[in-house]
Amino acid sequence: LFSAIEMAPRDPILGITEAFNADQNPAKVNLGVGVYYDDNGKVPLLECVKKAEALLIEKYAPRTYLPIEGLAAYDRAVQDLVFGADSAVVTEKRAITAQAIGGTGALKLGADFLQRFSPQSQVYISDPSWENHRALFESAGFTVNNYPYYDANTRGVNFEAMLAALKDMPSASIVLLHACCHNPTGADLSTEQWTQIIEVITSRGLIPFLDMAYQGFGDGIEADGQVVRRFAAAGGPLFVSNSFSKSFSLYGERVGALSIVAASAEEAGRIMSQLKRVIRTNYSNPPSHGGQVVATVLSTPELRQLWEEELAGMRVRIREMRAAFVSKLKEQAPAHQFDFVMQQRGMFSYSGLNKEQVGKLRELHSIYAVDTGRICVAALNSKNIDKVITAIASVL
Ligand code: LMR
Repeated sequence: LFSAIEMAPRDPILGITEAFNADQNPAKVNLGVGVYYDDNGKVPLLECVKKAEALLIEKYAPRTYLPIEGLAAYDRAVQDLVFGADSAVVTEKRAITAQAIGGTGALKLGADFLQRFSPQSQVYISDPSWENHRALFESAGFTVNNYPYYDANTRGVNFEAMLAALKDMPSASIVLLHACCHNPTGADLSTEQWTQIIEVITSRGLIPFLDMAYQGFGDGIEADGQVVRRFAAAGGPLFVSNSFSKSFSLYGERVGALSIVAASAEEAGRIMSQLKRVIRTNYSNPPSHGGQVVATVLSTPELRQLWEEELAGMRVRIREMRAAFVSKLKEQAPAHQFDFVMQQRGMFSYSGLNKEQVGKLRELHSIYAVDTGRICVAALNSKNIDKVITAIASVL
């Protein structure tokens, strides 16, 4: 049975963490995976999370099964956060939300659901996109194509080409979009460009699937959530996967959600009944701890306030690291231009480093980045940045 099984390649992102963990160099730096580290190089445990956990421990609640679609208070809090409590899709009960095992789990639920009810559709992801998008939708049975997105010459979005590709897609194509903080490039669309994208997607009967894993890391919670709200206001169908891994620093708790917007409350009820079948046949029902923590924070005004402040702190520190990255490289590699790093949003920078340069960083300096040149700016800190800049300048 097993003799013909070939060795699978390492995961392009998590495989880097495996190699990093095996590296004995004490000065190693992991700029691969999208994880926020504080200035001491530690993954923070947020104060709002500590306080919510203290409240939960006091209750000593029994650990029963959650409903298939997750904790009701969590699903409600996610809807309010993602769509706005007073949005039409929430007040008219046209949106359904199911707790999911991280943002990845939410994407997989959406992909499996779509494979059951729109199997003839093909999926379109940005070129480039998060490495796992293609694999996830292919493993759900879809053909996955790219639409043009990043322009290496301008370091921005090739908007005209993207729009033209959308206009060319067959109706009912599934279009995966990054709601904010594009992963891996950090290049986002402008408000005006989104207006045109929403118009084309809606009028052509395409199915938008918004992935929002970094809400709050771009320009703020409200600002980063605007794209989802604007799509929701344009009417369904709409799929939204969101994650609290980064914004609550709850990576290992796997807390995310899938929301679907339908045309009516009655349709939404039928969708939820089918989504529950997808969940039940995959993992039955989600784990409870992370969902309890997020629901507690989002529904307790003081904790919610604290979360917003802590998230703003992470956002500001990343921006400071971007600025330091640019100015230090200007000193050490004046022939090269890195100002574009300041325009990028979220945790990542598509640095322009090529595969060979990334390989040299790893082999000569124990600095780990994704082969495409994506670096996680949120892993830079005041102690490691000089080493990183010197190393980058030496491989340019
Ligand atoms: C990333 O892009 O590095 C993160 O989303 C982590 C992951 O699961 O790949």
